[in-house]
Amino acid sequence: MSSPIRAAAEALSDTLTAWRRHLHAHPELSGEEAETAAYISAELRRLGYEPREQIAGTHGLTADLLPDPSTAAPATALRADMDALPINEETGAPYASRRPGVMHACGHDAHMAMLLGAAALLAGRRSELRAPVRLIFQPSEERSPGGAAPLVAAGVLDGVADVFGLHIWSQMPVGALGTRVGPFMSATNELRITISGRGGHAAMPQQCVDPIVVAAEVILALQTIVSRSIAMTDSAVVSITQVHGGTAGNVIPETVELRGTIRTLSESVRAIVCARVHELATGVARNYGAAAEVAIRDGYPTVVNDANAVARALAAARAIGIAESDIVTMPPQGGGEDFAYYAQKVPGAFLFLGGRNEAKGCCHPHHHPKFDIDEAALPIGAALLAQVALDRQPG
Ligand code: NI
Repeated sequence: MSSPIRAAAEALSDTLTAWRRHLHAHPELSGEEAETAAYISAELRRLGYEPREQIAGTHGLTADLLPDPSTAAPATALRADMDALPINEETGAPYASRRPGVMHACGHDAHMAMLLGAAALLAGRRSELRAPVRLIFQPSEERSPGGAAPLVAAGVLDGVADVFGLHIWSQMPVGALGTRVGPFMSATNELRITISGRGGHAAMPQQCVDPIVVAAEVILALQTIVSRSIAMTDSAVVSITQVHGGTAGNVIPETVELRGTIRTLSESVRAIVCARVHELATGVARNYGAAAEVAIRDGYPTVVNDANAVARALAAARAIGIAESDIVTMPPQGGGEDFAYYAQKVPGAFLFLGGRNEAKGCCHPHHHPKFDIDEAALPIGAALLAQVALDRQPG
């Protein structure tokens, strides 16, 4: 509690909690965040901002705060995502979702509340700002192709020097902050393989080309990509997550469909893995007289954190009193994040903010029906975002 910003953020705790609980109770799915956007916009206007709404025809909005007197210095951008998940909430909390089947189970409600908190903290400190601040509220992070790419294409990073994003993290204790320099969140690819054989009577396999046996060989062959085609210093995941085929115990089906996901941390490894999936699936199928049609769809690219941006975020963390022992260098994560598109355009830092508190029952993983966070994280996140913006020097 060593800094004025942190003290001001702690004094704002009730408001931060109210924002978060309102958003939590009224979750909206990816691409459907109309009420969320209207709520955010109204709160920003109440704080004195003039938000730009419906960017690129989405529910995304931005709001700028210019230093006084205004300068031509490039801006610091702060980003929060807005969408919820198709999950039926089971927390039993008084602020639980009022919409059956829709839940803020990843903490994006907290992200919006913290960014509103930063907006409130900065609005009262305009005279201390030496560069503009751009607040970015982004829809549709949970559903590929995501809301970030259209916002970036629409120019939300024009005039921006660097960008910061916070993700609350239920696997890390409240008060802790985790990040890393370099590749942090994985590139994702969705995989679909359709194996076509020749169906028939299960008692006469010699007349058939059994796509079930071919699928089994393909699944095993794919396991060799990570172990045999990727260098020990690189990493990747290839997971087959669905196998669909067959209708009866005595029928060999015509086709089997496999689905799965690929996770990688660099474009070069991503290219190798995708190429090998294609080669192995088609090659194995051909060996058995079957055919494999491989469709690999690009998800988000790798989130690559910039060293200077991470340094700036950690300096801000120390400035608001986060202890050195609470700053964690995390390993690269298997999850994907469309923050990647911002960090491709300008130097960026994506950070995880601890939200775990077992005593309060906040310990379930993200995307779980009982997911919840310790709201004591909210003022820490709001202070951190505000401090990053205040620390920016002109030029
Ligand atoms: Ni999330």
